[in-house]
Amino acid sequence: MTAVPLATFLGELESLRSAASAALSAAADASALEAARIEFVGARAGRLKAIQKLLGGLDVADKPAAGKHFNDTKAAIAELLAAAQGRLAGGPSGGVAQGIDVTLPGDRVPLGHFHPLTQTIRRVQEIMGRLGFESVDGPEVEDQWHNFEALAIPAAHPARDPLDNFYLAVAREADPLLLRSQTSTVQIRVMENREPPLRIVSLGRVYRPDTADATHYPMFHQVEGLLIEPGTTMAHLKSVLRLFASSFLGGDVHVRFRPSFFPFTEPSVEVDMEWGGRWIEMGGAGMVDPAVLEAVGYDPDQVSGFAFGLGVERIAARRYGVADIRDFYRNDVRFLRQF
Ligand code: PHE
Repeated sequence: MTAVPLATFLGELESLRSAASAALSAAADASALEAARIEFVGARAGRLKAIQKLLGGLDVADKPAAGKHFNDTKAAIAELLAAAQGRLAGGPSGGVAQGIDVTLPGDRVPLGHFHPLTQTIRRVQEIMGRLGFESVDGPEVEDQWHNFEALAIPAAHPARDPLDNFYLAVAREADPLLLRSQTSTVQIRVMENREPPLRIVSLGRVYRPDTADATHYPMFHQVEGLLIEPGTTMAHLKSVLRLFASSFLGGDVHVRFRPSFFPFTEPSVEVDMEWGGRWIEMGGAGMVDPAVLEAVGYDPDQVSGFAFGLGVERIAARRYGVADIRDFYRNDVRFLRQF
């Protein structure tokens, strides 16, 4: 039997390598790649295997050189295969195969984020949570009892005027439903269902038929706070508001109370906050009126507490330096992207 000439063997190897290279880099999907893999490096009938069998027929003197070339070719094909696999998986070795340095810093995929009002709501919940206030929700469609009656706003009160509220056109004449005009409704809903002590905040939408301008909108958001604990005073109310405002706005915020009137608090105050040299009215507050405590079945001789209501748009506008609250609702991404 004549020995296989070394040159023939090396020629076989070389044509195998270029055929494998062409097939692997042309493979357009996983099944084409798998077919190429089986054809070239398949363990039983692969073309590399067939060439390996020729090794035995070489002249003994040629075997070391032939073996080395065989191993080089085998390694080269394995590399081509890995690169092709990476390319199809879109992975790093695919990048390397295309001459891209995957170790360089890349472009950050632009991710979206929460709306500034949602961010504000979450931050208020988080800060108040640290002060022990649990966050609760209430319905936006309300009845007369929760929006007015239990809050000591009697039938003849101007706050119940149809022109100042969004009454719903559903037939419920004795007890017309409306879109809630304030989040104080949630105070009632919570107190009706729980016993003191209580510390809750409720953030959500409220509706009033106001003409939209830089500081008004027919739909806006409020933060309602309620604390019912023995021995509560206006000093506690002021401390909580000041701690909240300092955490929310950052730095030292001053809180000022101006005498006011709300049917459901006594005494009642307007809450102003000073930050960066400017005083701004943020909402109302006061000690929960005994009539309200009675309406929910509490004994006003036993329990006391405070309540406050702040405008979410107002505190957000102050914090972010927004001059016109209508910008919050326009959904212009050039505006929203800034937060
Ligand atoms: N509900 C009042 C408003 O909408 C604000 C307020 C809440 C006042 C709680 C006192 C206590 O104007």
